Amino acid sequence: KVANGDGGNPRDFIAKMKAGKKRIVIFYGSQTGTAEEYAIRLAKEAKSKFGLASLVCDPEEYDFENLDELPENSCVFFVMATYGEGEPTDNAVQLMQNITDESFEFTNGGHKLDGIKYVVFGLGNRTYEHYNLIGKQVDEHLTKMGAVRLGERGEGDDDKSMEEDYLEWKDGMWDAFAKAMNVEEGQGGDTADFVVSELDSHPPEKVYLGELSARALTRTKGIHDAKNPYPAPIVVARELFQDTTERNCAHVELNIEGSGINYQHGDHVGVWPTNAELEVDRLLCATGLYDKKDTVIGIESLDPALAKVPFPVPTTYATVLRHYIDISCVASRQFLGTLSKFAPSPEAEAYLKTLNTDKEEFHKVVADGCLKIGEVLQMVAGNSLIEAPTPANTTAWKVPFDIIVSSIPRLQPRYYSISSSPKLNPTSIHVTCVVLKYHSVPSDRAGTKWVYGVGSNFLLNLKHAANNETAPLISDAGVANAALPNYAIEGPRGAYKQDTIYKVPIHVRRSTFRLPTNPKSPVIMIGPGTGVAPFRGFVQERVALARRSVEKNGPDALADWGRITLFYGCRRSTEDFLYEDEWPKYKEELRGKFSMHYAFSRGAARKPDGSKIYVQDLIWDDRENVADAILNGKGYVYICGDAKNMAKSVEEMLGRILGEAKGGSAEVEGAAEMKLLKERSRLMLDVWS
Ligand code: 2AM
Repeated sequence: KVANGDGGNPRDFIAKMKAGKKRIVIFYGSQTGTAEEYAIRLAKEAKSKFGLASLVCDPEEYDFENLDELPENSCVFFVMATYGEGEPTDNAVQLMQNITDESFEFTNGGHKLDGIKYVVFGLGNRTYEHYNLIGKQVDEHLTKMGAVRLGERGEGDDDKSMEEDYLEWKDGMWDAFAKAMNVEEGQGGDTADFVVSELDSHPPEKVYLGELSARALTRTKGIHDAKNPYPAPIVVARELFQDTTERNCAHVELNIEGSGINYQHGDHVGVWPTNAELEVDRLLCATGLYDKKDTVIGIESLDPALAKVPFPVPTTYATVLRHYIDISCVASRQFLGTLSKFAPSPEAEAYLKTLNTDKEEFHKVVADGCLKIGEVLQMVAGNSLIEAPTPANTTAWKVPFDIIVSSIPRLQPRYYSISSSPKLNPTSIHVTCVVLKYHSVPSDRAGTKWVYGVGSNFLLNLKHAANNETAPLISDAGVANAALPNYAIEGPRGAYKQDTIYKVPIHVRRSTFRLPTNPKSPVIMIGPGTGVAPFRGFVQERVALARRSVEKNGPDALADWGRITLFYGCRRSTEDFLYEDEWPKYKEELRGKFSMHYAFSRGAARKPDGSKIYVQDLIWDDRENVADAILNGKGYVYICGDAKNMAKSVEEMLGRILGEAKGGSAEVEGAAEMKLLKERSRLMLDVWS
């Protein structure tokens, strides 16, 4: 049997390990790429610490029957994200079934993994129930089957402290690993994963300038999904807030006509943003590449099994920073350690080492200051972070681009709850997005500065561009803020030309956040702030259905429909009331079947104790109807918006109301009812933190 995949069974990971002389196999359960990144980091560390090569595997591509045949001197890693309501990620469903199903037999018979060495790192989010459930399940089942864990089980909290949790966990794990595997630190070298080479002559039409697929480059037809986003032309882009000086909220309508893309109310749209041009310039200057920014480069993986080049090549230096890697996230502590080797002065080197080892200093200056990698390089070299970066005012570090590409993760799409219904808007997808902008916590070293969310400011900038507004580009230094990938622009390129069509690269992600199919079921929707987005889609969906029913069966067609109720909250009725002009029209068309309650948290009205009125207070005021709709009407409840505070308080309130309605307590009867509702998919959440 040929054991390297050519001719052998490509789903046999043990054969691949043997063929590649690898003692580590790392499986990752990943939905958005974070777990995959940590898997790759573990592989890199095993290489640089111990000189051990790993096989990094998407579990979907392998079978697990022979997991019990893992050679004695090897180890299996599981880097597992918990998704949604305690579920495995899509690519880990089979793996989890095989591990948890006691009737699943391994090659040597039985559900046993005696003596197999394993490591677990779970990724979860503490604001959700079932924190890190999948990591825990892997650990429990492997132990039960006789496998031996090396080190502690790691758990990372995506809400707050993923990076810190990882850093805190890994050293102890590697110590235990070294002992059990009988290896010593220092056997490895410092290796980059990729080699970057400058290409002298290359046909320009084959150079990727932001395209995410070969089809986009050649502009050939194909299915549009996460691997081949669709450049959707902007039909309408406007701002929804009255007061646009402090906060902005963008409403963008994207044309999907002829794209083959379809969507349902409640689905999400993935928007592929571009980094701010200011940040692209900053990093180009800080790495001394500004003058070569448009040079064509090729990138190759040194070990394709360990890491695939995460974006298409050949491309250019500037394109990589603009479109392909996440240069806008807060610099990682570990990466700063790597960079210290390339510091332009001994002082800069020493301070980077401090940031790498002194957690408190790192937190105070980098994390609280929200410093991106380019900003850290500038700060440490004593450059201004506020001026527009140029090669003249920014120290050029000699960081090889291989290291930049190997260490900075891929730029990910941003997901928004679609705010339209395809029944009313068959050819467009609407996005409602509050624009993220805040001040960082000032520190002695970095001062304070504005921090701009990448995705939302990208959309806001496109709104300006699509409307030919030369007006305020959001950036302290007055540099144009976002560029579009080459394939998403039609007409003359450059800022704000009359006849340019601006397009947003998108794909649709299916969701289960949907109205009940039977309009007789009552529906309760709770969505303060931009949490109202999917509910605009829900209400539009019902309006379309109502139009059809009335047309067919006359004005009484909706008589036996269930009531749909929306609990909405914002700061002030005059300031940030989203779609204020639309709701009355929907109400009219739904003939009394739709009602809306609003909480204006910063308006004049207060609770008797002086505190703010929030959606959960409105739910309490309406508790009789709420309990009746849920308990007697077999109604459906939907919550959308902030996970950390709002969704928690709303769930608590619902539990309390249901508990009381059942003549018991929130803790017992209320909790039981909430559990039941979730199990029956009659309580659904679309929340974010
Ligand atoms: P606030 O900002 O005045 O505190 C949309 O963001 C709305 O949700 C705002 O009116 C906001 O009020 C409110 N909000 C903030 N925290 C909340 C919580 N814990 N529960 C419900 N609503 C909340």
